[in-house]
Amino acid sequence: LRRGGLARDIVEAVLAHPGRWGSSEIGKGKTVCLDYSSINIAKRFHIGHLSTTMIGNSLKRIYDFNGYTTVGINHLGDWGTQFGKMICAYKKWGNREEVEKGGVQAMVDLYVRFHHEAEQHPELEDEGRAWFKKIEDGDKEATAYFDVFKKVTMTAVGKIYDRLKIKFDSYAGESFYNDKMEACLDILREKHLLVESDGAQVVNLDAYDMPPCLLVKADGATLYATRDIAAAYYRKKTYDFYKCLYVVAYQQNLHFKQLFQVLKLMDFAGADDMEHVAYGMVSMEDGSMSTRSGRVIWLQEVLDKAVEKARKIIEEKNPDAPNKDEIAESVGVGAVVFSSLWNNRIKDIVFSYDKVLNFDGETAPYVQYTYARCASALRKGGDVDMSNVDLGAITSDEGYDVIKSVITFGDSVRLAAKLREPCYVTRHIVDLAEKFNRFYIDHRILVDDAPTRNARLALTKAVGNVIKCGLGLLGISAPEEM
Ligand code: ARG
Repeated sequence: LRRGGLARDIVEAVLAHPGRWGSSEIGKGKTVCLDYSSINIAKRFHIGHLSTTMIGNSLKRIYDFNGYTTVGINHLGDWGTQFGKMICAYKKWGNREEVEKGGVQAMVDLYVRFHHEAEQHPELEDEGRAWFKKIEDGDKEATAYFDVFKKVTMTAVGKIYDRLKIKFDSYAGESFYNDKMEACLDILREKHLLVESDGAQVVNLDAYDMPPCLLVKADGATLYATRDIAAAYYRKKTYDFYKCLYVVAYQQNLHFKQLFQVLKLMDFAGADDMEHVAYGMVSMEDGSMSTRSGRVIWLQEVLDKAVEKARKIIEEKNPDAPNKDEIAESVGVGAVVFSSLWNNRIKDIVFSYDKVLNFDGETAPYVQYTYARCASALRKGGDVDMSNVDLGAITSDEGYDVIKSVITFGDSVRLAAKLREPCYVTRHIVDLAEKFNRFYIDHRILVDDAPTRNARLALTKAVGNVIKCGLGLLGISAPEEM
C-alpha cells in the first residue's frame, strides 16, 4: 500500500461525511426491538441497573448507525402483589405529600415497614392481597394510589435518564399486557401445551431439560413469564421485528430459555429471532454490591461522586477551563458509563472510582481527553485549509497506525452489532486514541510548512471526528475542552 495515498483517501472520506464514517445500511428495512433498563416501580435505581441501561442504549445507537430501525422498550415492572402491599402500607402509614417529597426511598421504606409489621400481624398479608385484587379489577381508588407510585418512580428515574441522555420509544410494561394474555393462553390450550399441576397451569419442558414454565397460579394470577409471552406477540404484531433483544442480567437465563422454548412450541412467528443479551454483575471494590452498612449502592450516588471527583481533577489540571461544571458532569458520567461497556457483557465488573477516572488508563476520560486535545489543536491551528494540503506526506509508522485504526472502525462497529457487544467499539476508540497520542507526541501539528501543517490538522480533525462518533455510539459525550 502507498501510505500517503491511503492517508489522503481516508482522511478526505472521513471529513466528507462527518459523524458517518464507519456507518452502513446493512440494517435497512429491518427492525430491532431492544428491551432494556426495564425498571421496577417503587424500587430505586441501583448500580446493578447500569449495565442493562447502557448496553441497551449503546446497542440501539449502534443499530441505528447501521441503518436498522430500532425500538427501545422499557418493559416496566409495574405488576404484582407487592403493589397491593404497598397500598396497604401507604394507607396506614404514609401519605401523598411524604411520598412525593421522599421519592422512591419513601416507598421503599413503606414496603420494608409492611414486612416488619406483617411479621407481628399476619392479617396484613390478606389486606395486601385484597388491595392487589382491587388493582386487578381496575378499582378507582386502588388505581389512583398505584398511579402515584408510578408517577413518583418515573420522575426520579427520568432525572437519571436525562443525565445519561437516554430516551425510550415505549414504556409498555407488565401491566400493559393485562388484557393481552388470555389470547396467548388460548393458543397454548388449543395446542394442548397447558397442563394442570397442583391447580396451577404450566407448560411441561421435561423434554428440554428444564423445569416447567408456570403461567397461571392456582388462584388464577398470571406471572412474569405470562406477560413476556404476551409482550412477544404484541411486539411481533406491532413492530414486525427482525430481532427482539432482551438486555437482562444472566440471573434470568432460565427464564428466557423457558420463554423462548414455550414460544417455539406455540409456533410463534418470531420464535427464532428472540435473544437474551445477558450481562454480568457489578460489585463495588469492597467485594459486595452493598457498602459495609449493608446498603445498596444507588446509581445516582455513584454518578454524583464520580462527577465530584472529576471536578477535583479538572480543577487541578486545568483551573482556567470554562464551564468546569459541565465538563465534570460529562467526564464523571462518561467514566461510569464506560465502565459498563469496556468488557464483554458477561464478565462481572468490580467498580472502582479511581480506575474509571484514571486519565491515563483505558477509560472514558482518557478518550475524552484525546478528543479535547484534537479540538484544541484545531482551535489553535485555525480551520484546515484543504486547498493547500499534502496528505500524501503522512507516511510515518505512527501516522500509518492512526490511518489503519480509522479504516477498521466500521468493522468494529459491525462486529459489535453482530455479537451484541458494544465493547468492540469501546476498545476500538481507546486503540485509536492511543495511536493518535503516539502520533501527536512524535509529530508537532502546528509546523510552519503550510501543506504539512494542514495535513496534520486534517488528520487530527478526522480522528477527533471518529472518536466523538465512537463515544456517541456508547452514549458518552465529548467535551471540546477539558
Ligand atoms: N423488570 C425486570 C427486572 O428488574 C426486568 C424485565 C426484563 N424484560 C423482560 N421483558 N422480561 O428483573
